[in-house]
Amino acid sequence: MKAPLFEFPSYQYEIDDWEFKKKGLLNRINNGKYIRTNLQIFETDRQTNNKKYIHYLEEFLRPELLKFCQEAKVNCQMTDAWCVRYYKGDHQIVHNHRGWGFSGILYVEFDPSIHTPTCFVAPWQDPTTDTTSLAFPQNVKEGTLFIAPSFTHHFVHPNTGDERRVVIAFDLLPNLPNHQSINSFRECDNINLS
Ligand SMILES: [Fe+2]
Repeated sequence: MKAPLFEFPSYQYEIDDWEFKKKGLLNRINNGKYIRTNLQIFETDRQTNNKKYIHYLEEFLRPELLKFCQEAKVNCQMTDAWCVRYYKGDHQIVHNHRGWGFSGILYVEFDPSIHTPTCFVAPWQDPTTDTTSLAFPQNVKEGTLFIAPSFTHHFVHPNTGDERRVVIAFDLLPNLPNHQSINSFRECDNINLS
């Protein structure tokens, strides 16, 4: 029988009352300054939004983030949030966000008949075939929220459609126990390097 030692902790939710909420969300994010570079084959406000809608997004996603925190048995803070817009031919290369914590993707403008969800790379090699495994979240549509460990490599296939594909990405950092927190140094633990 199977006896798994580890699981891959990913989570998926649908935003309630999405059509109504979507209008307010788009009003909030469409006014930003979006840029693209040689390394960013897409438009994003990540470098320009000054994290100014983190609190708005935390409130917007509060019901789903509460469910996530309960299921994952974790308390988190959103540390960054940004919007990414993929026009025809735009894509994103394989990357991850950091070594710990969770990252989320909210699908804001997304046509499942044209667009593909973010593709995730399995953190371990398939032991039966010695190959890399890739997986998509299932049944993704507008209003879907997907959360996975930030260390997971992921990428976005080129948008082949004429309609843009818009997502909001964000990072969640768990609150560490006091003994692990970098903010809980005692005076005597400080090392004077001067
Ligand atoms: Fe990413």
